[in-house]
This record gives sequence, C-alpha cells and structure tokens, in this order.
Amino acid sequence: MPDPVFLITGASSGIGAATARHAAEAGYRLVLAARSRDRLTDLAKELGGDKRALAVECDVTEWEQQEAMVKEALDHFGRLDVAFANAGFGGTRGFLSDTPEHWRAMVLTNVYGAALTIRATIPALKETRGHLLLTGSVAGRRSMPGSLYSATKWAITGMGESARQDLNDTGVRVTVIEPGMVDTPFFDQRPSAALEPDDVARAIVFAISQPAHVDVNEILIRPTAQTG
Ligand SMILES: NC(=O)c1ccc[n+]([C@@H]2O[C@H](COP(=O)([O-])OP(=O)(O)OC[C@H]3O[C@@H](n4cnc5c(N)ncnc54)[C@H](OP(=O)(O)O)[C@@H]3O)[C@@H](O)[C@H]2O)c1
Repeated sequence: MPDPVFLITGASSGIGAATARHAAEAGYRLVLAARSRDRLTDLAKELGGDKRALAVECDVTEWEQQEAMVKEALDHFGRLDVAFANAGFGGTRGFLSDTPEHWRAMVLTNVYGAALTIRATIPALKETRGHLLLTGSVAGRRSMPGSLYSATKWAITGMGESARQDLNDTGVRVTVIEPGMVDTPFFDQRPSAALEPDDVARAIVFAISQPAHVDVNEILIRPTAQTG
C-alpha cells in the first residue's frame, strides 16, 4: 500500500506546521495548505519535496479554492487519508472590541472555512475510510467573557459531533482536538507556561494511530499550569 496522505489547512505556521512534521515522521505524505505560499514551499522542501509534500495556496473561506486544493491533492497523490481543518485565528475579548470586519473574517475562517474543508474532503475520505480532524479549543468547551472567538470554537465542538454522526457507518473517524494555550503566532505576545505546538501534534498522531475500530472523538489538552 502507498504511504497515506495527510492534508492540513493552516499548515504554514504553529499547530499545523508542527503536525505536518510529526505526520511526516510517522510516514505520511503531506498536502500543506494556507495563504502564505512561501512558507508552505519551504516546509514542503524540508519534508522531502514533491514526492512527499505538496504546497497548495488556499484561502479556506473560498469554496472554489478548497475544491481546487482537494483536486490538486488527488491529482498529485491519488488518495486522501487524513484531512485536518485547522486554519483559524482569534480576536480581542469584549463585544465592543475588534471591528465588524475582523469578526466577519474570523467567523468565515474558523466556522465556514472548517465546514467547507469537511465538505471538500468527505468524498475522498470515504474512499479510504480515512480520518477527519478539526481544531477546536478549550474556548469551545467553556465560555470566555465577551469572546466571539470562543463562540466560533463552540461551533467546531458541535460540528465535530455532527460530522461524526453524519459519517457513521462510512468507516471515517472524526477527532476534535481542543488545545488550551499554545505558544504560536496566534498570540501577538508570546504566552508563558503554554503548550508547544509539538505537544498538540503528538496528541494528533496518537488519535490517528489507533486501530480502525477506535475513534478518539475529542482530545482536550491544557498546559499543566492553565487554570481556565
Ligand atoms: N495557539 C493557541 O493557543 C490555540 C489554542 C486552541 C486552538 N487554537 C487553534 O489552532 C488553530 C491553529 O492556530 P495556531 O495556534 O497554530 O496559530 P498560527 O500559528 O497563527 O496558525 C494559523 C494558521 O491558519 C492559517 N490561516 C488563517 N486564515 C486562513 C485562511 N483564510 N485560509 C487558509 N489558512 C488560513 C494561517 O496561514 P496563512 O496566514 O498563511 O493563511 C496559519 O497557518 C486555529 O484554529 C486556532 O484557533 C490555537
């Protein structure tokens, strides 16, 4: 059997890039998607070049670009085994903070973009009895004061369970990974005592490495020092 193929949105940075490195070590071929082509190209080279990793420029808020991303992945590698809807970003707490334009972009990326990734990848995942991964958050398990970002991650918690039920009996597994604070460019100022992106990547590799009859539905993972 050829090496399995793992597609990641938001692969140019943070959790997505770390997951790509860990998945490559575990023997996966990679499809790396985000808007920053240069960073994706550098990562694809680091992971072994064309035969092992494909860089695809994709804005997840655009359906045509997500369709094209999956087509390019299938044309290049011939299969898709894992799809990781991970692209996203945050905002300032407080319903009087940020601009309505920022809110629109955040909701479209974190919620609509994730739904489009599910829609674009389901047919190929059914073919391989593959695995769908979504990045939720601790912020999608508890409400954060004045946080529309938290509401977008509650949407991911719900979307993961909806997808799991929708895909029941197809052999496709669904995992929502729900990190606490992770030290990535998500934050303007580096957080202290946070998880490293590698910590989240290891949890993801654990979920996808289980036998076919085991579906790890959610992984809630905090740094030991996080109270909320
Ligand atoms: N860091 C944390 O504490 C934390 C905790 C819980 C959950 N999360 C979630 O983890 C996920 C990854 O975040 P991170 O912490 O790794 O932050 P990050 O390093 O800033 O990575 C965010 C990724 O999303 C991509 N992205 C943003 N908008 C996009 C769009 N419209 N289309 C395609 N790609 C887009 C970015 O790439 P481009 O800019 O190149 O497009 C980047 O690769 C997000 O969903 C975030 O909400 C983070």
